[in-house]
Amino acid sequence: MRSSTTAKFDIGENEYQPVNGLITRTRPFTGADKLFEIQLPDGEELGHQPGQFVQLLVPGVGEAPFSVTSSPTKPGPFELTIRAVGNVTRALHNMEPGDTVGIRGPYGSGFDPDVFEGEDILFIAGGIGLAPLRSMINYTLDERERFGELTTVYGCKEPVEQLYPDELEEWAEGDAMEYFETVDQCPQDQEWDGPTGVITSIIPEVDIDVETTKVLVCGPPVMYKFVLQELDEMGVPDGNIYLSLERNMHCGRGLCGHCQINELYVCTDGPVFHYPVVRDKQEAEV
Ligand SMILES: Cc1cc2nc3c(=O)[nH]c(=O)nc-3n(C[C@H](O)[C@H](O)[C@H](O)COP(=O)(O)OP(=O)(O)OC[C@H]3O[C@@H](n4cnc5c(N)ncnc54)[C@H](O)[C@@H]3O)c2cc1C
Ligand code: FES
Repeated sequence: MRSSTTAKFDIGENEYQPVNGLITRTRPFTGADKLFEIQLPDGEELGHQPGQFVQLLVPGVGEAPFSVTSSPTKPGPFELTIRAVGNVTRALHNMEPGDTVGIRGPYGSGFDPDVFEGEDILFIAGGIGLAPLRSMINYTLDERERFGELTTVYGCKEPVEQLYPDELEEWAEGDAMEYFETVDQCPQDQEWDGPTGVITSIIPEVDIDVETTKVLVCGPPVMYKFVLQELDEMGVPDGNIYLSLERNMHCGRGLCGHCQINELYVCTDGPVFHYPVVRDKQEAEV
C-alpha cells in the first residue's frame, strides 16, 4: 500500500515550506463538519492517491493533518472535510472563500487503486471516517468498469451528522454500488426513516463473497475493534482488510516520532495499513 510521499506539485527547496492554498468554496454540513475546496497556485493538481493526507497550516494558529476527500479523478481544486474540534479546525471553520491557507503534501500511503483493480470492495465508514474513504469510493464509481461489486456501509451518531447528503442519496438510488446506512440514534427533533443502531448492526445485512472481497475500513478508534470482530465472525480473512488509522502528527515526514506505532510511522508507513501489518501492534489499538 505504500505510495509516493513526495508532493507532485513543486513545494520548493524546503519541504516544510507550505504552498498557498486558496479556499475557493466551503460547504457546511448540518453537524460540526465543513467541506473546503482548495486550489493550488497556477491551478496545479495535488496529485494524490485516495487515502493520502495533507498538512494544512492556518497562518498564526497552527498546522494539522487532513485526509483528501475528493477523488483524484476529479480535476481542479481538491477537497477536505473538516470537523471543528480545536484551535486549527475552529480557526479554519471561520475562514471563507478567498482566504489562504498553507498546504504541504500529499503525504502517506493511500489506497492504491491498481491494487484493487478487478476486486469486489466493501467500504466501511464511521463518522468523519467517510472523508478519506469517499476519495476511493468516488474513484471506483468514476472508473466503474475497473472494479468488481462495490458495497458501502456508513454509520454516524445522528442524522444531522451525515456527510455529503446529496451524494449519499445518489449512492442509495443508483445501481453502481450497494449502499447501507445507519445512525446510532435519532433524537426526537430530527427526521430519519432508516435503521438505528451501531454500524456493526447492519454489516451482517451485506451480501458479499467473504473469501474474496477486499474490505476498506475508516472510522473512530472505538469502531475498529468491533468491526474487525464482526468481519472475523463473517469469515473475512485478515489479509483482505485495509485500515486507515489516525494519530497525532507533527512533521508528517517520518522524522519526529509523534505518530509512531511501535516501529511504524503512521505518517509515512500509513495512514492506510494492510491489517496483518498492524494486527499485533499493541499501540495500534485495533
Ligand atoms: C492522517 C490523518 C487524517 C485526518 N483527516 C481528518 C479529516 O479528514 N477531517 C478531520 O476533521 N480531521 C482529520 N484528522 C484529525 C485532525 O488532524 C484533528 O482533528 C486536528 O489535528 C485537530 O487540530 P486542532 O488544532 O483543531 O485541535 P487541538 O487544539 O489540537 O485539539 C483540541 C481538542 O480536540 C481534541 N481532538 C483533537 N483531534 C480530535 C479528533 N479527531 N476528534 C475528536 N477530538 C479531537 C484534542 O484531544 C483536544 O482535546 C486527521 C488526522 C490524521 C492523523
Ligand atoms: S508525524 Fe513526525 S514521524 Fe510521523
